Amino acid sequence: MDHRSTTAWINLSAIRSNYRKLSALAGKSAVCPVIKADAYGHGALAVAHALEREGAPYCAVALAKEALELRESGIQMPILVFGAPDRSWSSIAIRLGCAQTIYTEEHVRILASAARSVGTRAKAHIKVDTGMNRQGLSFAKAKAFAGMLSDYPEIYIEGVYSHFADADNLDPSFTKLQTERFELALEAFRAAGIEPKIRHISNSAGLLFHPNARYDMVRPGILLYGLSPAPGLNLPDGFEPAMTLMTSIVHVRDVAAGESISYGRTYTAARRSRIGLLPIGYADGYPRALSNKASVIVRGTRAPIVGRVCMDMTMIDLTGIPGARAGDEVLLFGGRELPVSEISDLLCTIDYEVVCMLSKRVPRIHTDEDAFDGSRQERKNYVDREGSPL
Ligand SMILES: Cc1ncc(COP(=O)(O)O)c(C=O)c1O
Repeated sequence: MDHRSTTAWINLSAIRSNYRKLSALAGKSAVCPVIKADAYGHGALAVAHALEREGAPYCAVALAKEALELRESGIQMPILVFGAPDRSWSSIAIRLGCAQTIYTEEHVRILASAARSVGTRAKAHIKVDTGMNRQGLSFAKAKAFAGMLSDYPEIYIEGVYSHFADADNLDPSFTKLQTERFELALEAFRAAGIEPKIRHISNSAGLLFHPNARYDMVRPGILLYGLSPAPGLNLPDGFEPAMTLMTSIVHVRDVAAGESISYGRTYTAARRSRIGLLPIGYADGYPRALSNKASVIVRGTRAPIVGRVCMDMTMIDLTGIPGARAGDEVLLFGGRELPVSEISDLLCTIDYEVVCMLSKRVPRIHTDEDAFDGSRQERKNYVDREGSPL
């Protein structure tokens, strides 16, 4: 079985166009694309290079290791690491010129000592917790933190930021409260002589719905990839989904009525059926929870998943698609025909998780056509140019 036919096509022109759209929305605020977790599964190196060419002034990752991979591939734009500094990675991040997130005295000590060992000042953004209660300095402790920082001249505070917990909620009250708390923290820092160049709090939903919270920079992630920040929230006009997951049928078999399909015999054919075999399974990030629930598109027609999704293989019912045969292209998700949200709804999760869980076994093919007219044309252009990966 050839797993190469299972491919995630990543439309970089869609990502660039989404980035331009986000920049237009952000107005005077800088846009810092969030490309952590391998750019939400889209391939961080290709995405970062496309965005750097677009003029992105900053980008953000979760781990210093992710920043290292970007720098090793030649990315030069400023990088913010969201994760807290640790002893082994902090000096590497300083050498890479990254800004690091701090919010405890321990972080400050680690960063200052790393700065001394490298022989340069370390760039930091203070993370303030304004209600997410995950990571960050309590907004009420900003004054004390600022006082402590004055003992560490090795650290340059470039930014202060926070993170919204609920910015997609139609009721804006909690986001307003978080913004007020952020203001209080900024005021305390200001009073202590810390005037950060970059203040930032908005994620994608914050950027969309809370124009008063754009500050100097915004940090959109999910919208960059053309996906919605929350279930049930329609993708705003003009954003294009960037990932399309495709495979092809590798085998077709006829089964008699009454035959069962796959492990556990959870599906029994009610009639004589044509069953297609797909080279994708839960080890590729196509979850077993989709068994007997999801469908795919073959020859423009829906084909349901039948029986349990296996580790490497999945079966579909082709009975209603005359002429379907081995070699036919199969759309698993992507674009507007079979949106990622259909899969995330079936899994009771969010679009973020569906694209992030696609495993590294699935090759990502990046296309980048200026005049793109949808992922199908993108794929055709690629195949005309490079030959088929299927
Ligand atoms: C600190 C921080 N900022 C920004 C983002 C981007 O959020 P979104 O993808 O919802 O735009 C994330 C993502 O989880 C994050 O952790």
